[in-house]
Amino acid sequence: MIKIGILVLSDRASSGIYEDKSGVEIEKILDSYIKNEKKFYYELIPDEYDLIIEKLIYLTDEVKCDLIFTTGGTGPALRDVTPEATQAVCDKMLPGFGELMRAKSLEYVPTAILSRQSAGIKGKSLIVNLPGNPKAIKECLEPIFPAIPYCVDLIDGAYIENNEEIISVFRPKKK
Ligand code: MTE
Repeated sequence: MIKIGILVLSDRASSGIYEDKSGVEIEKILDSYIKNEKKFYYELIPDEYDLIIEKLIYLTDEVKCDLIFTTGGTGPALRDVTPEATQAVCDKMLPGFGELMRAKSLEYVPTAILSRQSAGIKGKSLIVNLPGNPKAIKECLEPIFPAIPYCVDLIDGAYIENNEEIISVFRPKKK
């Protein structure tokens, strides 16, 4: 059983101005990528630093999610604080995730460099920040997913099995 947290950060979606599309998209894509039985934990909150920290601690320490994906709040605007909250709760950061997502996203939009998205480890959970644009979800998840199952192996999380006909993953051979 893989536990997956989806944390949507949006002032407007959380106040009902529009519907969340990004969180729904994350669930749809991961459902197609991951073969294991899954349970999703979905949270939609405004861009509040303390609240983001509270939810990340809940999803890691209490729910014990193997994977947590945030969406939104990665840009330069005053209210964008997702990467700071992520860094505050993580034991270590994995900057390669953000580097790859920005590099790949640049093939779609020049404003990809405005996203400060990153990833990090808290306990046995991998937390990944995705941008808020629904279109960005697949553009970012597709390039990083091949490294995610091995990352979760290395932190003693659940063994993630991919749907090979949809996406390949890479696990280095044991010496
Ligand atoms: N990455 C991809 N793949 N596709 C996009 O449309 N939008 C960019 C960037 N990264 C985008 C993207 C823009 S315009 C911004 S401002 C930043 O993500 C931050 O978005 P966020 O604050 O909603 O997280």
